[in-house]
Amino acid sequence: MIEFFLNGQRQRVATEPETSVLELLRGPLARHGTKEGCASGDCGACTVAIASPEDGQQSLTYRTANACITPAHQLQGAHLITVEGLARGDALHPAQSSMVACHGSQCGFCTPGIVMSLFVMHEQQRSAPGMPLDDHRLEAALGGNLCRCTGYRPIRDAALSMSEHADTRPPWADDPTLERAVRELSPTVASEGQSGYLTPTTLAELTAAMQRHPEARLVAGATDLWLEATQRLEPFEMLIDLRQVRELRQIEETADGWWIGAAVSYREWEPLLVEHYPAFAHLLTRLGSAQIRNRGTVGGNIANASPIGDTPPVLLTLDARLRLAGPQGMRELPLASFFLDYKKTALEPGECVAAIYLPKPQANFEQRVWKLSKRREDDISTLLGAFRWRRKDGVLSDVRVAYGGMAAIPLRVEAVEAALEGRKPDQATFRTARQALHDSLTPMSDARGSRDYRLTAAVNLLERWRLTLVDTGSNDPAQEVILDAYAH
Ligand SMILES: Cc1cc2nc3c(=O)[nH]c(=O)nc-3n(C[C@H](O)[C@H](O)[C@H](O)COP(=O)(O)OP(=O)(O)OC[C@H]3O[C@@H](n4cnc5c(N)ncnc54)[C@H](O)[C@@H]3O)c2cc1C
Ligand code: FES
Ligand code: FES
Repeated sequence: MIEFFLNGQRQRVATEPETSVLELLRGPLARHGTKEGCASGDCGACTVAIASPEDGQQSLTYRTANACITPAHQLQGAHLITVEGLARGDALHPAQSSMVACHGSQCGFCTPGIVMSLFVMHEQQRSAPGMPLDDHRLEAALGGNLCRCTGYRPIRDAALSMSEHADTRPPWADDPTLERAVRELSPTVASEGQSGYLTPTTLAELTAAMQRHPEARLVAGATDLWLEATQRLEPFEMLIDLRQVRELRQIEETADGWWIGAAVSYREWEPLLVEHYPAFAHLLTRLGSAQIRNRGTVGGNIANASPIGDTPPVLLTLDARLRLAGPQGMRELPLASFFLDYKKTALEPGECVAAIYLPKPQANFEQRVWKLSKRREDDISTLLGAFRWRRKDGVLSDVRVAYGGMAAIPLRVEAVEAALEGRKPDQATFRTARQALHDSLTPMSDARGSRDYRLTAAVNLLERWRLTLVDTGSNDPAQEVILDAYAH
């Protein structure tokens, strides 16, 4: 049984381990406004808004999620808003009236999802009215919503004109007791185990649960795991949810860096990265969509061990470390020792990733991260190159070069690092580095790119990097701007 609020109404329902929020809505709860397009988190037709007290915000904050890949049990203790919960009788919410006024809908299939993304944007605008609604925010808010027939200009116009419409508040917003009632719900699931999912709250409980249930699958944001349910139709016998485990949700600062809990979401990583690692932060704007970044975790990205996961190559260049927790306690290892072979990691049975150590940048630190994918928003990498170095008196040091999508695992290319370390970034040095890269990697061909494409592009990223290091002697930043314009 899970307990949560839906559009202001308290709900108590039974769910199976693999029930998604979308199935719950369109099945037992008979709310058919939320649509299913792809069932894989790609199209955004199923977008809903969820506010969870464990988010740590002072007041409930609504965030978009793909209902098709959000486990229903993760609604426990939350407030779920669907497209049915916005209008007040015939008076539409501004997210809806602006879509009507701007002709932002044709077949209407994507519309509920787009309206929910606009609703969340509108809520953000209410809480921070001074924040400009620029292209970056619009793209971030709507990048996870596809529309096949209207075209995006009317939808964009609707987003920009919400403030011109009557600020109709949803009926549930009138209830002064609602927020307290949501917060009073237990964040963990009652009748643990019988329902097929466990929600431990401490690391000790988590490791004990993993020992009791070796068959159980761990779940954090579910943005990878849930595709097994929706695409491969594989049932889960038992799930152990990591999102309530206190130690996995913390960010602990040390003198030299930060230990970041494995269940900290991308959205929660963002402020730290914006301040200290802007190139890494920029990558997050290209990782999935807002819906994915609101729920997905770096711990899941690492544990999933996909060769095209975006964060591992960047973290490899930053000499990140991992804490693994298991029945014998905690052990530490460099991230570089974690990936063993395709989807094989150093995790022993009963172990999980507990935290990721992100060192603080040192003096003269520089970094570049370039992701190549077919689409700019909401697409997985064909390949990703991450470069980090220091430069003193024109000489490169502490060079790290790592790629995703170029082998069975994300990996550092030490031959390239050796070719550049202690040298000036001139043409001859980089020619040697490019050759070293060419000789070191044999990527595979797949639907995202052929072996030749990947190799050529990876080698060309080294040349792009060199060009950014060239001091042209002119004040014209155009060259760098042109490079960055394609640096997606
Ligand atoms: C539409 C869409 C777009 C995406 N775009 C991108 C993208 O651009 N770049 C990218 O890299 N990825 C992308 N992904 C993949 C996914 O979002 C990321 O890999 C994400 O980081 C997974 O984190 P999660 O918390 O959702 O993991 P989950 O799905 O909860 O778990 C993933 C796997 O890791 C295991 N696991 C999770 N946490 C731990 C832990 N702490 N210890 C041990 N095992 C654990 C789970 O058992 C599961 O096997 C996308 C996915 C979707 C659906
Ligand atoms: S149905 Fe396409 S994202 Fe959920
Ligand atoms: S209105 Fe038809 S898909 Fe968007």
